[in-house]
Amino acid sequence: METKLIATPIETAECDAAVILTFEDAPGERLAATVKELYDGKEYSGKALESVLLHRPEGFAARRVLLLGGGKKEKFTPSELRKAAGAAVRMLKAKSLKKLALLLESGYDSAEHVAAAVEGAILGNFEPDQYKSDRNGGKSVDALTLAVPEATAALDAALYRGRILAEAQNFTRELVNEPSNRLNPTILADRARQMANLNGLECEVLDEDRMRALGMGALLGVSQGSAQAPALIVLRYKPAGAKEGVHLGLVGKGVTFDSGGLSLKPADGMEKMKYDMAGGAAVIGAMRAIAQLGAPIQVTGLVPAVENMTGSGAQRPGDIVTSMSGKTIEVLNTDAEGRLILSDALTYARQLGCTHLVDAATLTGAIGVALGHIYMGLFASDDALRERVQAAAAAEGERMWHLPLDDDYKDYLKSAFADLPNIGGRYGGSITAAYFLKEFASPTPWVHLDIANTAWLDDAKPFPSKGPSGVTVRTFVRLATDWSN
Ligand code: BES
Ligand code: ZN
Ligand code: ZN
Repeated sequence: METKLIATPIETAECDAAVILTFEDAPGERLAATVKELYDGKEYSGKALESVLLHRPEGFAARRVLLLGGGKKEKFTPSELRKAAGAAVRMLKAKSLKKLALLLESGYDSAEHVAAAVEGAILGNFEPDQYKSDRNGGKSVDALTLAVPEATAALDAALYRGRILAEAQNFTRELVNEPSNRLNPTILADRARQMANLNGLECEVLDEDRMRALGMGALLGVSQGSAQAPALIVLRYKPAGAKEGVHLGLVGKGVTFDSGGLSLKPADGMEKMKYDMAGGAAVIGAMRAIAQLGAPIQVTGLVPAVENMTGSGAQRPGDIVTSMSGKTIEVLNTDAEGRLILSDALTYARQLGCTHLVDAATLTGAIGVALGHIYMGLFASDDALRERVQAAAAAEGERMWHLPLDDDYKDYLKSAFADLPNIGGRYGGSITAAYFLKEFASPTPWVHLDIANTAWLDDAKPFPSKGPSGVTVRTFVRLATDWSN
């Protein structure tokens, strides 16, 4: 999608459709008589994402005007604008309107608003229809013009930033959407390497022999039931003049298919376990934008990639593996595999010298029981790092709910035969999973994001589409680029 700013009236913008926001409490001055009639007749009231498409609007170069509700004007944050821009693109592309202009008036014309509008529009163009012969009729929006009161260098920079972020997020969504026969650990590593080569990142992929030499028994135990070789993907970014003393490690769960292993999952819904690498894909997408935007700190992305299968070599419930850290783990349930592969990846990240660790993982079904599909779960061993992650998430409109990780939960993780079991009891499943990870991340400051409930959307909304969401990409990028602030 091409994007640009104009500071001329939207009425004269050459496009197929102009998008005008009106608010419940502020109908605005554009097309005032029409809008008044619609409001008076209660046909349209400016509520969030309500819409009316006007044909041949008088005084506009565009063939169509979309009146789009923004809700209450004082509550119209960049997040609301991102959603509105995304919904507008999704509505208008369905009608084969390809060139859009969106009016950003005073009050919602800041750099954050411009970035959010571009993000929403580019994210709204994504469809998970890669393997359909008739790809939605090939419908997409190919140009977006933002009409602002004044075009400044700061707004141009925001436009660029929004584009990079959203393109990285869509790249992640494409990876997540790939079925497991078309994206195994080796292919995921190839895609990461390709991306790295295009963006000046260093990419190293550790194979099974390297993992064995490093003692990654927890990771290898998960992989041994699969015919697909495992891969530990390491992406390195270090800018000239990187801030001293900070080395951020981004770690993402990369299970390209999770059958559950011998603790087999039920057939119903198992097809969704292709998205069990969404955390890993988010790390790869974030590294791309971090390189393109030039973050001021050293960042290393780590993605342990495996397939969790039931082959004759598969690990059995009751097996005891020795992790890279030296801790032994009793595998009571082979379906709790994410924490096993992440334990070795976290240990390796610490060995590489990471001073701060943030992981994203589709770790537990229990997180959806606790939070539904709106907020991801956030767990932390360090308040300062947690506050940084929360600030980045708030700025990017990604919702995270902080859950507890008190040491009292240690009692939930007792094994009679090894240092740790890989599952807790019946209660607090997301917390015991997080606590397990903490045992390996500590003492390095660490934040864990459980995205099992937010990385895949079952229902299409006005925005975003059904399917892979690409969550945590924008937060990761913001965390790295804003580190010095
Ligand atoms: N990949 C799953 C978690 C998951 C569930 C992701 C639903 C997305 C949607 C994870 O590996 C898993 O199977 N976790 C188990 C843990 C249990 C065995 C303690 C779970 O949540 O049931
Ligand atoms: Zn599992
Ligand atoms: Zn899993």
